Amino acid sequence: MRAKDQLEQVKRKQVEGLTAGMKSIVLYLFAMSGIINVLALTGSFYMLQIYDRALGSGSIATLIGFSVLAIGLYLFQGLFDMLRSQILVRIGGRLDHRLSPLAHRVAVDMPRFGYSTAEALERGRDVDTLRGFLGGQGPIALFDLPWMPIFLIFAYTLHPLLGALTLAGAVVLTLLTILTELMTRKLAGSSHQAGIQRNAIADSNARNADVLKAMGFAHRAVERYSEANSDHLALQTRSTDITGTFGAISRVLRMILQSAVLGLGAFLTIKGELSAGAIIAASVASARALAPIDMAIGNWKHVLAARGAYGRLKDTLATLAAAEDPMPLPAPVQTLRVEGITVAAPGSGRVLLSEVSMEIKAGEALGVIGPSGGGKTTLVKALTGVIPVLRGAVRLDGAELTQWSDEALGPHIGYLPQEVSMMDASIEENISRFASSMDSSAVVAAARAAGVHDMILRLPEGYRTRVGSGGAGLSGGQRQRIGLARALYGDPFLVILDEPNSNLDSEGDAALTAAIQSIKARGGIAVVIAHRPSALAAIDTIAVVQNGRLVGFGPKDEIIGPKPVPEKAAPAAFGEPKLAVPA
Ligand SMILES: Nc1ncnc2c1ncn2[C@@H]1O[C@H](COP(=O)(O)OP(=O)(O)OP(=O)(O)O)[C@@H](O)[C@H]1O
Ligand SMILES: [Mg+2]
Repeated sequence: MRAKDQLEQVKRKQVEGLTAGMKSIVLYLFAMSGIINVLALTGSFYMLQIYDRALGSGSIATLIGFSVLAIGLYLFQGLFDMLRSQILVRIGGRLDHRLSPLAHRVAVDMPRFGYSTAEALERGRDVDTLRGFLGGQGPIALFDLPWMPIFLIFAYTLHPLLGALTLAGAVVLTLLTILTELMTRKLAGSSHQAGIQRNAIADSNARNADVLKAMGFAHRAVERYSEANSDHLALQTRSTDITGTFGAISRVLRMILQSAVLGLGAFLTIKGELSAGAIIAASVASARALAPIDMAIGNWKHVLAARGAYGRLKDTLATLAAAEDPMPLPAPVQTLRVEGITVAAPGSGRVLLSEVSMEIKAGEALGVIGPSGGGKTTLVKALTGVIPVLRGAVRLDGAELTQWSDEALGPHIGYLPQEVSMMDASIEENISRFASSMDSSAVVAAARAAGVHDMILRLPEGYRTRVGSGGAGLSGGQRQRIGLARALYGDPFLVILDEPNSNLDSEGDAALTAAIQSIKARGGIAVVIAHRPSALAAIDTIAVVQNGRLVGFGPKDEIIGPKPVPEKAAPAAFGEPKLAVPA
């Protein structure tokens, strides 16, 4: 329980940190809105004075005097208005500045937990929504609302009945706002969700562009997109219809009310209870009193969007707050120990790997084999911390992976995923993992170790060649070898290669074997998944993973037999290993 309380506290701190220093600005804006609203009485006072004094006395000098004064007050009001919106825009900017790196940090991590890319990218858009809202009319209406009583009191001082009428109008319009809120709240949520679904389809279509073109089913992909788009549109239309309708009703009501105030004023004047100037003054004041409510209803869509975005961002930040900063540990140099790990699929919770245990010492290389879908990739993802383990532990020199921060652990890990993708940057930046101080000798050393140095030099701009989105500017084999160089950069202790030779030629195979040998020679650990035997030349120990279990573990010769004679057609794959050491 205490740990939970502490976590809550951390979360609260994280959110407070974001809005730190903004409370005083908000108070300042509130006060400023008060001044603006008082100044907004200028028009009403001007009417009163013109009708009741200037016209009454027929004095041009009085007229000019009041006019100059009114112009001065209007200018002040305009000035404050301008300042207020500038401050709001800057608050939006400041919030964006603080929020967007944090939101992006979470967003890039979300696909790991089974979220779609579209859903993840939405977090970045949430920051935009919030900033856009703060720079728009919505918050101005919200700041003006609490000052409405100024106008009510003003109308009341002119005549209690005028005050009562304006108050009644305010109450009706407020009820309309509440009704709008109640009717659109659910819709806004589902329309947002439908938008994400549509974007997810767009994203998947774009990723599969080649396949869609080559096999000519782009039109069907477009149809799928259109269907999702019409769902999204339908929900949007319904929600906009509601806000639009209520917006129109509120505008009409406001106009009726304004005329009603005029009519009531005229009635009271006829009865001799009011001056002619007061009629117009009351009309202007009542209009101004109701304007913020009107504006709030008109902007309700944006209010909803901003509120949703803020809620999601707060949740996002809470997940960041949960990751506390662990104490720095010495670099691992001895062992990788896997203690009875069970791994579940991020989305569905289906168990993908159960009760796997093994130990690998520095200077050893482990080969992981087994049939497709057996759980090899899942195993190495657990070894790198990409997928969290449900039970059990992965330890480097006795310390669980979770005891390291990502930044601290990263340099000790080299990981070549099964599907190699590159960042849209130069080869140099990719290999060095975006190192802040570029150590070109380390980049070249890694490229040489991966046997890719000469190949990179032959590219148009050598190491400065940009690889394009995902590495699309490279061939499959090039991508794999540069990915290998990235994994070897900085001589990490644990190097994990997921089918590193699936796209390699014989030269690449030789480089891979040399790389594994040098990892062993410098006292590192290599874990290599392979379907083709050529990747296992430098391997001493083999693990067989099948149906999510470790069904074999032992010296290579015992598990897969002695080295095959090379000149005969080499066995294509280890689909069916002969299990010398069943678990
Ligand atoms: N993110 C995921 N969500 C749900 N199931 C998953 C996920 N990743 C993998 N699986 C499932 O886990 C099982 C093991 O997959 P894994 O990728 O580990 O196999 P593999 O042994 O690497 O196969 P291959 O040799 O084809 O690469 C498969 O049945 C797969 O459907
Ligand atoms: Mg795999």
